[in-house]
Amino acid sequence: MTILITGARGAVGSSVLHGLRAAGHPLRASSRRPEQLRLPVGVRSTDVEVVPLDLARPATFAAALRGVEQVFLYAEPGGIDELVRAAEAAGVRHVVLLSSSAALSPDAEDDPLGRHHLLVERALTWSNLDTTILRPGAFAGNAYGWSQAIRRGDPVDLAYPEALLAPIHEDDIADVAVTALTGNAAVRGRAVTLTGPHGLTLREQVGEIAVRLGRDVPVRRPTRAAAEEQLGRFMPADVAASLLDHQAGTVGIRPEISTAERITGKPGRTFGQWVDEHLDAFRPH
Ligand SMILES: NC(=O)c1ccc[n+]([C@@H]2O[C@H](COP(=O)([O-])OP(=O)(O)OC[C@H]3O[C@@H](n4cnc5c(N)ncnc54)[C@H](OP(=O)(O)O)[C@@H]3O)[C@@H](O)[C@H]2O)c1
Repeated sequence: MTILITGARGAVGSSVLHGLRAAGHPLRASSRRPEQLRLPVGVRSTDVEVVPLDLARPATFAAALRGVEQVFLYAEPGGIDELVRAAEAAGVRHVVLLSSSAALSPDAEDDPLGRHHLLVERALTWSNLDTTILRPGAFAGNAYGWSQAIRRGDPVDLAYPEALLAPIHEDDIADVAVTALTGNAAVRGRAVTLTGPHGLTLREQVGEIAVRLGRDVPVRRPTRAAAEEQLGRFMPADVAASLLDHQAGTVGIRPEISTAERITGKPGRTFGQWVDEHLDAFRPH
């Protein structure tokens, strides 16, 4: 009854691995670079089989899926139809997909982030696999994007400092995935939207980091074009534009809160808790 965890090097995937290990399930962890996979603290190499898997390369699917009953899946539309077929052939019964609330947007079809997740959701929904879809909003870990500037003592550039989000701690998403993978009938087969417990503007998020560092962290407002250029160094230009449009669209609008607590029974972790756990990333090395 092996569970395959894709993205096991990722923030959510590594937390899923940790949570499932604690529940005592036979586990297989995959990565495109398995040699670089460092198992989470508390997980021994004898506890987990590590395999290569590239979700965009169907040639890697059959071996990774052999004997697998459930999959924790990152969204990669590139090979999804082949993955569905390989999973059905291997006897997989249940997939928990890490999707995105971007898939719920009315213009998701025409939006690069929405479409990326929508294509994977559709392929799974139309398959014979039981599918649980997790649709988180913005991750708390997106704050890593400010770490270099903060470490250097530079201002944080925010095109829309008053963008109002409810950042979710990646461990909360993982807890919901673990709940679904360990047989909770209340969530299995459903699509759930997930947020953190509080709405916070991007400026307030920077403030939470500043308070913990014990110093001021100034915010600077670049032009929209400059912000697109900056973000475009880390992602395709259309994705950067889509992210900024999304931020602009949240200004002044209280986010609907939908925490993991109703599924896991555990209170949603706050953004402040995420910062406490990752503060070293914002301190000069
Ligand atoms: N950031 C947000 O605000 C946000 C909001 C909603 C949804 N999401 C979703 O969450 C995901 C990011 O989660 P995260 O923060 O946990 O990720 P992360 O820490 O950035 O790590 C990305 C993971 O994706 C895996 N991956 C990427 N392409 C792959 C491929 N072709 N085949 C196999 N694995 C692949 C990587 O695996 P290897 O490199 O080891 O192969 C890595 O483990 C995004 O993909 C997005 O779908 C993010």
